[in-house]
Amino acid sequence: MKRIIIDGNRELKGTIKISGAKNSAVALIPASILCDEEVNINNVPNISDIEALEEILLYLNAKIDRKDNKIIIDASNIDNKEIPEEISKKLRASYYFMSALLGKYKHVEMYFPGGCNIGKRPIDQTLKGFRALGATIVEEDNKYKIDAEELIGAEINLDMPSVGATVNAIFASVRAKGVTTINNAAKEPEINNIADFLNKMGAKIEGVGTSTITITGVKHLHKAEIDVIPDRIEAGTYVIIGTLLGKNLKIDNVIPEHIESLLDKLKEANANIEIFDNYVITNKSNNLKAIDVITKGYPGFATDLQQPLTALLTQCKGISHLTETIYENRFNNVEYLNKMGSNIEINNRTINIKGKTKLYGEIVKATDLRAGACMVIAGLIAEGRTTIEDIDHVLRGYENIIEKLSNVGAKITKEEI
Ligand code: EPU
Repeated sequence: MKRIIIDGNRELKGTIKISGAKNSAVALIPASILCDEEVNINNVPNISDIEALEEILLYLNAKIDRKDNKIIIDASNIDNKEIPEEISKKLRASYYFMSALLGKYKHVEMYFPGGCNIGKRPIDQTLKGFRALGATIVEEDNKYKIDAEELIGAEINLDMPSVGATVNAIFASVRAKGVTTINNAAKEPEINNIADFLNKMGAKIEGVGTSTITITGVKHLHKAEIDVIPDRIEAGTYVIIGTLLGKNLKIDNVIPEHIESLLDKLKEANANIEIFDNYVITNKSNNLKAIDVITKGYPGFATDLQQPLTALLTQCKGISHLTETIYENRFNNVEYLNKMGSNIEINNRTINIKGKTKLYGEIVKATDLRAGACMVIAGLIAEGRTTIEDIDHVLRGYENIIEKLSNVGAKITKEEI
């Protein structure tokens, strides 16, 4: 078992450089399947979700060259075979292979994807997109066998702006015959990064960043190179940390526009942050006040920052209300925060956080990726020693988190027992 040990309450100064976005990279890698030639992906974060995708590519006999933060993938000659359940259930993004393989070979056999346990997370909207394009789906237990004689451009009306369903609809239609329109598409910046990559390969995707995306199918996709955009959730997590413990702590390689909803809320709470073109300077704020936050799709307040923010809200004076609208079960961090001394009540989809409360070091768990980030923040501000168990969840999504925090003065280590 791996765990993180933190001796809390230390001033943090220096620079933290933000890595490439997990949720972009995990789609850019499967996108390589759609290409007929080699692709180069730069600024790929070194996290375990990427290893899981690499495992799938190797299983399909793709050629991969991964060095530092660069990956070169040649998937022009892969075997389109059933991806075993043990690999597909390691992460949510495994289902990007479903659409990429379908888009290229018109046939795919695969199991239900994995991902953090934060809600039901069905894939009905992805399947709806495949069916609209002409595919037939045979579903047996957890397994999907999807075939199409031909994929033909169509109108896909998503019931909700799902990130995954939007990306899957793009992957499945990019080589289809004719024009596909995705209505009620997700607008997250990662989708722009993914569409840029495919357009560099010769795809014709328009309207990304709006609710209507149009894809004109092309026959072939050629070699291309892309840089993964900076991770806005990682950036937001460190800006929150800087607001609690920073002394001129610089969060570098940030696209501030991507975290505008967080920065606005932090300013409302009296945070001490200065925003520049591609970095943010944070300083500890001593008079944080309660705020109300509701999670929404981009450009609204990101659900992925909801749990990290909760740790900060324990330090705000007054009662904060935080409402989670995207997932049914994303408050697993609350039990452990309360164990450390916070005063948080769960009321259906809303939590009420009464602050300011002092937090004390405890033995806690990372129940999922962002809950783990929340516990790291709680440990950093707590008095005494915090031990966080089940940290594999954290390592799935935060590159070099121990090193990045140690380098700016945190007392944090990883142990394997
Ligand atoms: N939904 C459905 N049916 C579908 C698809 C989604 O009901 O077919 C529901 C989900 O159950 C959820 C909501 O719609 O309640 C939003 O789901 P969405 O499809 O947008 O999420 P996702 O694509 O599964 C990605 C990120 C998540 C992030 C969400 C929202 C990846 C690999 N994951 O998930 O990231 O929370 O978008 O922004 O890109 C994380 O990084 O911690 C994480 C969970």
